Amino acid sequence: MNVIPTGAALGAEIAGIDLSQDVSDADRAFIVDAYTDNQVLLFRGQSLSFDDLLRLREVFGPPGKTANQLLGLGRKEYYPDQVPTEITIISNIKEDDGTPRGSLGDGEAYWHTDSSFTKVPISASLLHAIEVPDSGGETAFLNMYQAYDDMPDDLAVRIEGKTINHAKTHTSDGVKRPEYENVTDPTQAPGIHHPSVRTHPVSGRKCLYLGRRINASIVDLSLDESEALLDDIWAHTCQDKYVWEHCWAVGDLLVWDNRCTMHHRNAFPPNSRRLMHKSITAGEPLIPA
Ligand SMILES: [Fe+2]
Repeated sequence: MNVIPTGAALGAEIAGIDLSQDVSDADRAFIVDAYTDNQVLLFRGQSLSFDDLLRLREVFGPPGKTANQLLGLGRKEYYPDQVPTEITIISNIKEDDGTPRGSLGDGEAYWHTDSSFTKVPISASLLHAIEVPDSGGETAFLNMYQAYDDMPDDLAVRIEGKTINHAKTHTSDGVKRPEYENVTDPTQAPGIHHPSVRTHPVSGRKCLYLGRRINASIVDLSLDESEALLDDIWAHTCQDKYVWEHCWAVGDLLVWDNRCTMHHRNAFPPNSRRLMHKSITAGEPLIPA
């Protein structure tokens, strides 16, 4: 295997392994080291079944639950029976009867980290491309270590020791989950509190942990103070110099570490087809910085 860094702020391609076969202990150690160092890994040209995706996630951590399971909302009722419980389908495709094949449609998915609205958020996400549009639908990743390390002193002082409420109310494409009421005051949104800066349990490095912007709030600040600080920290964080964007090809598998990255998806033409299969690993309780 070779590690080929993207040359951007994070991410590397791992070449020279067929992940449909069992991963040896030595290969596993190699991959995990590259994952820790690069935060996002790309494996091209893979052909992976649902079972392969569920087996491979255990290279990166213990089995994890989908967002819907973590929220106690159960399995998506439109999933066909053959989709295992812990697989998520991300797709804009509609069946002949109008039933969606998966979630998230064709719109933009805003910067976020997966499932931060739970007490023990997930760690790795594994996303495998089955069908991709000719253009659009790219996924970008953001290095939250760098965003932390680079903070101007005044911003670092303001965010130090703060706790963020991670709202459960919306999916990453900005759509309100029907199970939650509309919220007009974000400080009242149902959510889970996490430290704004966390320590990665493997690398030992500190990074920002922001979740998603919509209905977020900083605990114990007024709404105005909270919005002002969140606007400043998000403006600092979402800079191109911390980003690597991936243009998908069929067969790509991307694995990212939600503990130290955020990701974003570009919109794509509604009349094109995009189908991705996803598995996840469980995380661990957060270590505050
Ligand atoms: Fe996501």
